[in-house]
This record gives sequence, structure tokens and C-alpha cells, in this order.
Amino acid sequence: MRKPIIAGNWKMNKTIPEAKTLVTGVLDKLSGFNDVEVLFCPPFTALSTVKELIKGTSCKLGAQDLYWKEKGAFTGEVSPLMLKDVGCDYVIIGHSERRQFFGETDETVNEKVKAALAVGIKPIICVGESLAEREAGETNALITRQTEKALAGIEASAIANMVIAYEPIWAIGTGKSSSASDANEVIGLIRNTVARIFSKAIAAEVRIQYGGSVKPENVKEYMSQSEIDGALVGGASLEVDSFIKLIRY
Ligand code: 13P
Repeated sequence: MRKPIIAGNWKMNKTIPEAKTLVTGVLDKLSGFNDVEVLFCPPFTALSTVKELIKGTSCKLGAQDLYWKEKGAFTGEVSPLMLKDVGCDYVIIGHSERRQFFGETDETVNEKVKAALAVGIKPIICVGESLAEREAGETNALITRQTEKALAGIEASAIANMVIAYEPIWAIGTGKSSSASDANEVIGLIRNTVARIFSKAIAAEVRIQYGGSVKPENVKEYMSQSEIDGALVGGASLEVDSFIKLIRY
């Protein structure tokens, strides 16, 4: 059984006091609830604070990016060991905003996936097409390529420790979500790609999330799809009430 995973990607939001208010508010309303894996992905500056707050709960901590080198002269970057040190369980890799604004490529995504696995942090690998690519009928080829390249050279035994997130770029922060059945179809394609590279049994274990304008009003529809194992949420993860509603879909 794949345990559903609801993750809040805070992006570049929340100061430390704001992070405390949000996480404390969520934890207050979550006690005893264990059916869903809950993951907070704050900015680097709030990782340590959130780790303290979730100690002793089943909630998990994730970062939003990492660099693949161990250490050295890489001003502004954060290493896998540093994320391990602060207590990260997960790290988001290859988010479309990184690909769009910060030069992330399929190759750097692959380096980062390997680096995260090497220190025992679970990667959440993001894939997704732009509106132009969707309209040109390129979605399936692009998603297959992004998935294959992210997983190149990864040991089969590591796959169960990963999460993949399908986030169509045109649905991120726009209020225009993909229909649940369309998302389910693309996520099925990702699972088939994993099955082709590794095996059906391995593909059956990997959790694949949908992301892109997931809200309390539409989360249930996504989560009732056979292939969708969770949500990677931006905007609606920034308020206690909406994040709680997502977790309790
Ligand atoms: P929104 O939920 O704000 O559309 O963002 C989705 C996302 O990019 C999560 O990683």
C-alpha cells in the first residue's frame, strides 16, 4: 500500500515567526491523525525551526532544493549533508520554478537526485509540461524524458524511497488545475515509465503526487484517482485552515 503524502511547498514564503505560527496551528489540529504523511517544505532559513516544532510527531521535513557537491567554494548553495544535518527527510528537486528561473536541467536534476539518495534524503522529483508543450501534444514525450533522465543511473533499490510529483507548469499558482482524470493519465504514464526502466513491482511502490492549484475544494477528486498518491501544494499550504483541509481530504 502506498501511503498518501500531502506536502506543503512554501516556496519563498514565511519568516521564522510566521513559520512557527503555521506549523503550530497545523499540529494543534492534527494530533492522533496518522492516515496521511504530512510534509512541510519551508525555505532554508526556517528548516531548523520547523524541525524543532515537529519533533515527536509523524510530520516530516523537506527542503526545496540542494546542491550535489559535498562542500566547498559554491557560494549560496546548500549541500546534501547540511540538509541531513538540519534533519531533512525529503528534498524537492527539479521544481519547474527552478527549471524556469534558475537554470535547472534534466542533468542537474539527476545529479541532485543521486546526491540526496547518497545521504539518505528522499528526493521529490518534479516533472511537468508548459502550456505550449501541452498544446503542441508534447506532454507524454516530455514527461517520459524528464522521468527517464531524472532516474538515470539510480539503483532499483532506491526507487521506493522516492516520490515523483507531476506538476503541469500552466496549473501552478494560476487557479487552473489539470482535470483529475488528465492528471491521473499522466501519472499513469510516469508509473509505466518507472516500470519500463525498473520493474512493475518497483513502479507499484513509488508514490506519485499531483501538484498545481490543489485546493480544499478539489483535493478529494485528485486523491480518489487510482494513480495519484498525494499532493504537492503551494498556495493552499500557507494557511492553517486550508492545509488542514487538504490533509484531511
Ligand atoms: P500552487 O499549489 O500554488 O499552484 O503551487 C503548486 C506547486 O508548485 C507546488 O510545488
